[in-house]
Amino acid sequence: MHDFSFKRGRLYCENVSVDSLVKKHGSPLFIYSHGTLTRNFNELDKALAPLDHTVCFAAKANSNLGVLRTLANAGSGFDIVSGGELQRIMAAGGSPSKCIFAGVGKTEEEIELALKKGIYSLNAESEPELIRINKVARRLKKKAPVAIRVNPNIDAKTHAKITTGTYENKFGIAFEEVEAVYDRASKLKNLHIRGLQMHIGSQLTEVEPFEKAVKKVIPLAKRLVEKYSIEFISIGGGLGIVYDPALESGDAKWWRSPKRKDLLTPKKYASKLIPLLKPLGLKVLIEPGRFIAGNCGILVTRVEYLKQTGVKNFVIVDAAMNDLARPALYDSYHQITPIKQRAGDNLKKNQISSDVVGPICESGDYFCKNRMLPKTGEGDYLALLSAGAYGFVMASNYNTRTFPAEVLVKGNQAEVVRKRQKTKQLWASESVPKWLK
Ligand code: LLP
Repeated sequence: MHDFSFKRGRLYCENVSVDSLVKKHGSPLFIYSHGTLTRNFNELDKALAPLDHTVCFAAKANSNLGVLRTLANAGSGFDIVSGGELQRIMAAGGSPSKCIFAGVGKTEEEIELALKKGIYSLNAESEPELIRINKVARRLKKKAPVAIRVNPNIDAKTHAKITTGTYENKFGIAFEEVEAVYDRASKLKNLHIRGLQMHIGSQLTEVEPFEKAVKKVIPLAKRLVEKYSIEFISIGGGLGIVYDPALESGDAKWWRSPKRKDLLTPKKYASKLIPLLKPLGLKVLIEPGRFIAGNCGILVTRVEYLKQTGVKNFVIVDAAMNDLARPALYDSYHQITPIKQRAGDNLKKNQISSDVVGPICESGDYFCKNRMLPKTGEGDYLALLSAGAYGFVMASNYNTRTFPAEVLVKGNQAEVVRKRQKTKQLWASESVPKWLK
């Protein structure tokens, strides 16, 4: 369920028309719904209510200050992967004591920052990292709270580039070795062994891999409670969303379509996992990014040209792979809809097989290929749906293109939460060497 819907033929985000936003703030434009963000968070939070738990939003999915503040206000903790993200969380009013720090390459500076700010847990991914954390903690005369990420070697059955829980991946410590690493870590004086962590992948659409992984690590977690009195287990993020509504478009309830009975809902997730986790008596953390932020955002783009080659109908828009990289990187699907509906849009005769492409000089710069879309023309606007997670955060300045603006909507209020970048800012910190002048 999300808050983008058509009213009298115009796409709205909550009570604000997308058309009015794009007129005011220009294109391309990311638009986020405060209501969707909070609802998604609350839905998961409620589903896990029988457990002592914290939902730690994976900030990498969308780290805009407005989004982070919305979630901090809702009671969210955060899963972070860099010192930069930690500073963003604090700038947004979040608390480091509700943050867990993942990632295989934490630098000494990042570890020091996290310890000084009072992070809840550094989730270590290798033995050298544990040794480094111990060293930094000793220097700071602190005990570093740590968890170790176990790689359970379970295939999440998702896209290869976002699978993390098998031995083909760089993440965590192999299931068979992790206990010995805990033993050695327990001898490092400046570590406080606080928990166990795992994350098997992203965009999972079935509950079975989660169930399998949790079942596999429970005996390990029990032994860690006995030996080191660990207090939490984090089962990672990864809950998938529906991107492809072969399903009813334009219907605000499309993601709950009865055609998708297999869909991974918080209820289904919770009903399978709670009975396994509850008896452990541990605090349970989850680290969802996409589930919370994915369908809270859209990317709006203007049609610049139509180009018909005889083989293809290209709809050339002003957004590109530098704004939303997912289709170019993962061949991923984003639903595309004009922001104004015309009568008969859904009739075959008013649609055309389209390749929606950006202006970047790469063939990978496309948002869809051969997709039946209502016919559009120069000056029309299209919305790419479910662009709230791994959208803006993966944007780049490739081709000297500026970052788009971001707007957060709540009810009938809309506020720019990131100004559109100015072209001159792109080279503001560059210089020409003196000896070239
Ligand atoms: N926890 C850890 C340790 C992670 O590595 C990730 C995501 C998450 C939690 C959150 O996963 P989520 O709930 O959002 O699935 N750029 C890709 C996704 C990369 C995910 C990386 N790790 C995409 O656009 O699909």
